[in-house]
Amino acid sequence: MGKDVIIALDFDSKEKTLAFLDRFTEEKPFVKIGMELYYAEGPAIVREIKARGHKIFLDLKLHDIPNTVRKSMAVLSGLDVDMTNLHAAGTKAMMEAALEGLTRPDGTRPLLIAVTQLTSTSQERMESDLLIEKPLDEVVLHYARCAAEAGLAGVVCSPLEAGKVHERCGADFVTVTPGVRFADGEVGDQVRVTTPAKAKEIGSDYIVVGRPVTQAEDPVAAYRRCVAEFVG
Ligand code: C5P
Repeated sequence: MGKDVIIALDFDSKEKTLAFLDRFTEEKPFVKIGMELYYAEGPAIVREIKARGHKIFLDLKLHDIPNTVRKSMAVLSGLDVDMTNLHAAGTKAMMEAALEGLTRPDGTRPLLIAVTQLTSTSQERMESDLLIEKPLDEVVLHYARCAAEAGLAGVVCSPLEAGKVHERCGADFVTVTPGVRFADGEVGDQVRVTTPAKAKEIGSDYIVVGRPVTQAEDPVAAYRRCVAEFVG
């Protein structure tokens, strides 16, 4: 699995997104399109960014009954993205249905990865709101195991959990990790953060970086710094 830096395109319009991407004249970063941009601009923005030559992680985090997820994934498979995701909490039956729906007639499909517990969920909230009383890292590893058993390619998790996920699910099981900050940068609302270099050391396959690049004075330089630290 090739290590790469994925830029989170957390913008609310096509204009802002394309103005940001226009700054990259020499490289074509792997980008993440999340709910904000997708709900603002619809599938057309995915096609437009794909046509510009970027790899795309479509981060829509599906979670519904298996039949609905299967049919929705079949629609998304037509967008020709490289990676997409769902919530492992939807159960193995939902993940298996998703995989079926996402697989194209020729047998190919984007990488399908599962969100374990969101990095914004604390142990306390998980116990009080979700009535899950196991340690958070055990829950993350269990969800990762379920995703692997359902045939998924990997999980979204904290970089701090990536090493354990590989131990439990194998070196080829992909870990995609947000919550990355430069050692001298602002943390913002992320709680459990690591630097790109540390994420590399722990074994993340892909880091997802938003504000440290999108809000930087020189986004291209910030992106290159991430690549230099993480990919080397
Ligand atoms: O700006 P920042 O680097 O914090 O952006 C991180 C990106 O990763 C955001 O798009 C956020 O929605 C996403 N994400 C996350 N934690 C998760 C899953 C996705 O921060 N558990």
